[in-house]
Amino acid sequence: MEEKFTAFFDSGVGGLALLGEFCKRFPGERCIYYGDNANAPYGNRPHAEICFLAEKAFAEISRYPIKAALIACNTVTAECVEEMRKKYTFPIVGIEPAIKPAALSFPGGKVLLLATRATLQSERMEKLLSEYSAAADLIPYCPQELAGAVEKNIFDLEKIPLAEHLPKGKFDAVVLGCTHYSFLRKKIESWFACPVFDGIAATVRRLAIVANICSENDRKTVKNGLFFMGSGAKKNKSVFETMN
Ligand code: DGL
Repeated sequence: MEEKFTAFFDSGVGGLALLGEFCKRFPGERCIYYGDNANAPYGNRPHAEICFLAEKAFAEISRYPIKAALIACNTVTAECVEEMRKKYTFPIVGIEPAIKPAALSFPGGKVLLLATRATLQSERMEKLLSEYSAAADLIPYCPQELAGAVEKNIFDLEKIPLAEHLPKGKFDAVVLGCTHYSFLRKKIESWFACPVFDGIAATVRRLAIVANICSENDRKTVKNGLFFMGSGAKKNKSVFETMN
């Protein structure tokens, strides 16, 4: 029987960092990456539109044999992971801002949370923030145009003027609550001169558990079978190739 796929979905290039981490850890696994770059960014869109676009992507993905899917997008997770879980029989993992490790690593500290408007306004985020607001001073901030800037300048990230997108201030830690921002991880780290949390490794670990993949080492020399789908298939494939 042909081996099933692990599927990754993001509005655009953002989820590629998760795909990269997954491929590094699990050589030989077959993956689908669905990027909806033509409609990115999602973060400033209303709830119904985000769910409609996610549903379209999942309808496409589910035509293939899937062992598990990762919503490699904080915005889609925040808006509609539950709806997707009700509709599909394969397990679905979502990425969420790594507030917990940041707040617990800096008790009482100032923790900046960068995320899209949709993520910050979601009920899931409200819950997550109230759960850890006693542990640290959590400061949510939406750099409204940043995901779009990453999407547009992915082959020339130097063009993005961080000063125009990031808030002023001193923080003890920064949480990247949008996978597009992870392409700027190093720059953001030096900009604020503090640790940055992105939750990528933990999310990939969780994905492997639900997909029932336990062999990290036995196929080290085998390449991953990668299939790029969606309106940004070509772009995402070439971004991925330049990353790895
Ligand atoms: N990469 C996505 C996230 O993690 C979405 C960015 C966007 O499309 O606005 O939130």
